[in-house]
Amino acid sequence: MKKLSYLIVAALILTACAKEQLPQANYDIIPQPKEVKLNEEKPFELSSKTVIRYEKVLQREAQFLSEYVNDIMGFAMEIQEYQGQTDGIVLKLSPDDFDQAEAYEINVTPKQVTITGSDAAGVFYAIQTLRKSLPVSPSLRGVGGSQTTLPSGTIRDYPTFAYRGMHLDPCRHFMDLDSVKIYLDMMALHNMNQFHFHLSEDQGWRIEIKKYPELTEIGAWRNGTVIGHNGNLYDTIRHGGFYTQDELRDLIQYAAERHINIIPEIDLPGHMQAALACYPQLGCTGGPYEVWRRWGVSDDVLCAGNEETMRFVEDVLNEVMDVFPSPYIHIGGDECPKVRWEKCPKCQAKIKELGIKKDDKFSAEDYLQSYVMNRMAKVVEARGRRVIGWDEILDGNVSETAIIMSWRGTEGGIEAARKGHDVIMAPSSHLYFDYYQSEDIASEPSCIGGYLPVERVYEFQPLPEELTPEQQKHIIGVQANIWTEYIAHFWHVQYMALPRMEALTEIQWNNPKERDFEAFVERCKHMRQLYDLYHYRYGKHIFEPQVWSDTVAPNLATRKPITLREQPAEKYAYEGAKQLVDGELGRGLYNSGRWLGFWGKPLDAVIDLGQPAEMGHVRFRALINKGAWIYNPSEAMVLVSDDGVTFREVAQKDIPISTWADNDGIFAYELEFAPVKARFVEVIIKGHDLPDDHDGFGHPAWIFVDEIEVW
Ligand code: ACM
Ligand code: ZN
Repeated sequence: MKKLSYLIVAALILTACAKEQLPQANYDIIPQPKEVKLNEEKPFELSSKTVIRYEKVLQREAQFLSEYVNDIMGFAMEIQEYQGQTDGIVLKLSPDDFDQAEAYEINVTPKQVTITGSDAAGVFYAIQTLRKSLPVSPSLRGVGGSQTTLPSGTIRDYPTFAYRGMHLDPCRHFMDLDSVKIYLDMMALHNMNQFHFHLSEDQGWRIEIKKYPELTEIGAWRNGTVIGHNGNLYDTIRHGGFYTQDELRDLIQYAAERHINIIPEIDLPGHMQAALACYPQLGCTGGPYEVWRRWGVSDDVLCAGNEETMRFVEDVLNEVMDVFPSPYIHIGGDECPKVRWEKCPKCQAKIKELGIKKDDKFSAEDYLQSYVMNRMAKVVEARGRRVIGWDEILDGNVSETAIIMSWRGTEGGIEAARKGHDVIMAPSSHLYFDYYQSEDIASEPSCIGGYLPVERVYEFQPLPEELTPEQQKHIIGVQANIWTEYIAHFWHVQYMALPRMEALTEIQWNNPKERDFEAFVERCKHMRQLYDLYHYRYGKHIFEPQVWSDTVAPNLATRKPITLREQPAEKYAYEGAKQLVDGELGRGLYNSGRWLGFWGKPLDAVIDLGQPAEMGHVRFRALINKGAWIYNPSEAMVLVSDDGVTFREVAQKDIPISTWADNDGIFAYELEFAPVKARFVEVIIKGHDLPDDHDGFGHPAWIFVDEIEVW
C-alpha cells in the first residue's frame, strides 16, 4: 500500500514536471517558412483533448496530423469534420486567398489554430510545419497527458520551386517496398513532391512488364557482383528483385497521399544490358548478354536500327504509363556509348534511311540517338505526358518539349534553358548524395567517391547568373540523386540522404539569397531529434564537427621552399607544391584538396633545405584507389645537390603494381640511403600504366601524394 502511494505521488510529480519541462513549439524549422509573424497573445494549448476539425476533402490530412502528433507527443487526437466550431485545429481550403499552388497559412490564436491551404498539398505542408515545430522529448512522450503550446501569430508560406525532387536507384541494389515507403516519408518530412524512381539498368530490371515477362524473370537477377571498385573479383551471390504492377500501384497511392508524384524512369537507349540479357535480338551484336555484374557504362545498348527494338521500347513505355499516372516520364538518355552503332549494319542503314549527316558538332550516331529520344517522346506525349531526359540528350536535335535534367554540372541546364527547354538542376557537383559526406573516408561506409559535405549542398545556386530572368523561369526545380552501386542497404541510403536533404529542401523550398550555414545547422538540430524519433540513420558530421590533427613530425623538409618540375593535373593542383611539405596529411579521399594528383607524368619535386644538412631517409605517402585509376607509384628516386643545378642519385626503388587482391588505402614508401650532406633534395615519383585487367587499360594510372618527409 505504501509503495503504491509513492508511485502515485511520483506519477503526479512527473505529470507536473512534464507540463513544466515541455518547451513550446518553435517555428524556426527546415525549410524555413517564408513569413512568421508572432504576436503577444497567449499561446494555443495543444493536448490530447484538442480536436482536429477538417473540411471533407481533407480527412487524410487530418489523419496525418493526428498521427504525427501521436508520434511526437504520445497522444492521439480526435478528428472530426469541421462544422464552424471555434476551437481546435481547423483544416480548410481557400484557393482564392493564394496566388500559388501548395501554399498555406497557419493562424494561431489562444482558442483555435486555423490551417488554410491553396490546395490539399498546401494544407499538408502546413501540417509538416506544425509537426516540425513541436518539441521532441521522447522521455516525456505520453506521460500524464503531456501537452505543449503553440505561440500565437501567423505563418504564411509557399514553395519557390514547383518541382522538388529526390531520386533513388533500386537497380544497382534492390530496395524493398517498405524501404521505399520510408524514403517517401523522408521526402514528405522535407516538403518534397517528385520522386524519381530509376527502374531499369544494366545491372537489373525492376518493373514488371506483362508483355515481356522475361524482363523480371531473367532481367531482375544477376549472378554475382563485382567486389570493390570494379576490380576483377566477383562474389557469386545472386542479387535482385522487382516490383509487380500491383505493388507499384500501392506505392503510387502511398506517395499520392503524401502529395508526392512518382516519376518512373526507363533509361534508354543505354544502360539496357539487363533487358538485352532477356531479349538479345534487341542489341546490335545479338549477344549473348548477361545481367551485368560490373558497374560503369556498358558498350552494349539497344540497337537503334531495329524496328523490333523500337516497338519493344514503345510497349514498355505504354505499360509504364498504364501503371504510373505521372505527368512526367523519364526516358534516360545518359551515357550511351556509340561504339556498337558505329559498326552495326542496321544502325548504319537507319542513319542512311533518315538522311542523317554528321556535322562539326555531333556525330551521325548522336543524331541517331536524338531520333530515338524524339520518337519515344512522341509516344509519351501522345498520352498527354512530358518526357524528362538526362542532359546528354542535348547532343543532337532533341525536341524542345523535353525537360532536361542537368547532372554533369549546370552547363547542360544553362544551354537547355537558353534553347527553351524546361530544366531540373541535379548537378553531381552539389547534388549527388552517393558521394562522401566527409573526407575521413576510413570512418565512412563504402561509397562511389566524390566529396559532398552538407556545406557544399547548402551553397548550391540553382538559378545561374548567366541566364536572363526570363530564361531562369525555365528552371522548374531541383533534385538530388542517390545511385546505389556501393550502397547495398536501405540504412545506408538513409545515411547518404540525411541530413543533406535538409540543405536541399532549403534550396528547393526557399532558395535563400543569403545563406547562413551556422543558423542552418542550429535549425538542423531540431530535425535531428525527429530523425532519432523515427530511427532514421543520418550523418552526424555537422553536429559533431571534426578537427583536423593529422600532421607529420617536423623534419628537414617541413615548410621549406619547394618547386615542381612537372605540374599536377589542374583539377588536383590546389595550392600546389607547398602542400607536399606543409606537414598536413590527407585522409582517404583523393579529392579532398590535401592530395596532389599527377597523370601521365612524374611528380618531380626539388626541396631547398636552406643550408647543407645531413640526411639518410626520404618518405612519402601515396593513395591507392584502383577503381578511380589511382595506383601506387612504379618507381621512386632521391637525388641531392649542393648548388640546385647538378644533382646526383642517392637512392632508387622499384615498386610493383598493386593488384585487385591488394587493399586500396594510404601507403608510406621509405627510401633509406647512406647519409649524405646536401642543401637540395630532388624526389622523383613515377606512375604505372593501368594493367590489362583494369577498365582503363591502355592509359596511365594516376598517382596521388600528400607529403614528403626528409630526415
Ligand atoms: C547519371 O548519373 N548517369 C545520370
Ligand atoms: Zn544496331
